[in-house]
Amino acid sequence: MRGGICLRQEILRLLRKAGNHYVSGEEIAETLGVSRTAVWKHIKELRRVGYDIVSQAHSGYRLEGAPDLLTPAELAPLLKTKIIGAKLLYKEETRSTNEDAKIAAAEGAPDGTVALTEFQGTGHGRLSRGWFCPKGKGVLFSVLLRPQNILPQDAPKYTLLAAVAVVRACRARGLDVGIKWPNDVLAGGKKLVGILTEMSAEMERIHYIVIGTGINVNIEAAEFAPEIRETATSLSLLAGHPLDRRQLLADILQEMETLSLDVQAQGFAPVLDEWRRLSLTLGQEVRVIGVNETFTGRAVDIDADGALLVDTEAGRRRVIAADVSIRPADARQGR
Ligand code: BTN
Repeated sequence: MRGGICLRQEILRLLRKAGNHYVSGEEIAETLGVSRTAVWKHIKELRRVGYDIVSQAHSGYRLEGAPDLLTPAELAPLLKTKIIGAKLLYKEETRSTNEDAKIAAAEGAPDGTVALTEFQGTGHGRLSRGWFCPKGKGVLFSVLLRPQNILPQDAPKYTLLAAVAVVRACRARGLDVGIKWPNDVLAGGKKLVGILTEMSAEMERIHYIVIGTGINVNIEAAEFAPEIRETATSLSLLAGHPLDRRQLLADILQEMETLSLDVQAQGFAPVLDEWRRLSLTLGQEVRVIGVNETFTGRAVDIDADGALLVDTEAGRRRVIAADVSIRPADARQGR
């Protein structure tokens, strides 16, 4: 027997297919093999979550508007991917989509499963930081990958891949964004996107990778917490209008799938090359804040492992994990 969510998706599919025309309750009931009362109950529930469904005596139901939600019912029709997003795990609210994806992975969820939500209570960031986004204003999702023939030490490069995918989708919308090493997407020096990759592996074999991405989409400046108001921004602030979160996510998943298939076929070199072209860090004077030390220098490249190469007065340094800030020209004086 199909569950309520599945039936509601089917009802929406029939209403969408009908476009401007009405579909009778009887036709929906017959097509889906349920009673007319069940159809009516599900229509009521769809209206409750924000679908604008009008009904007319003797004609039936017509869909006039859909809510701005990332539910499978809204996202699945936009997806053209074969693997990434074939299984969608949606929760209106959750602690963290990375946690959801890791639990799903432990329970055997397939390669390409995507966990997504409208709100995270305890979203995680890099370096044990948090990630907060107002409900329904961002795109928060985690992709579970089970890559074949990729060694555990190569897993961090999936973070670079995700950043490239997000930048491709943003630039396709005319938005001038770039990547700050290793994985922040910025516009005008302010952070738009954070990516956190986590892995379960043995010495020589990856069990799974979870790539969690948080995108500030339709957030007003005043909605950011005071402590990040100066350093964070959103795509709507950049574009000057709200963006369709569903289409944005569908496009990013498409880019991630294309890039992942390229990696399986050709390795990471093309992804690293594209990352270099989209980088805001390379060629800049940077301050590197590591666990034990801070130093400055010029970021010159990333190596085949994705580590940042920084030329300092004491020679070239290889940075694997650190906070890197791009130094404005006035901060460099007296160096
Ligand atoms: C960072 O910039 O420090 C990384 C932030 C990553 C946040 C995303 S939001 C979706 C996914 N779930 C999490 O708990 N974290 C990632």
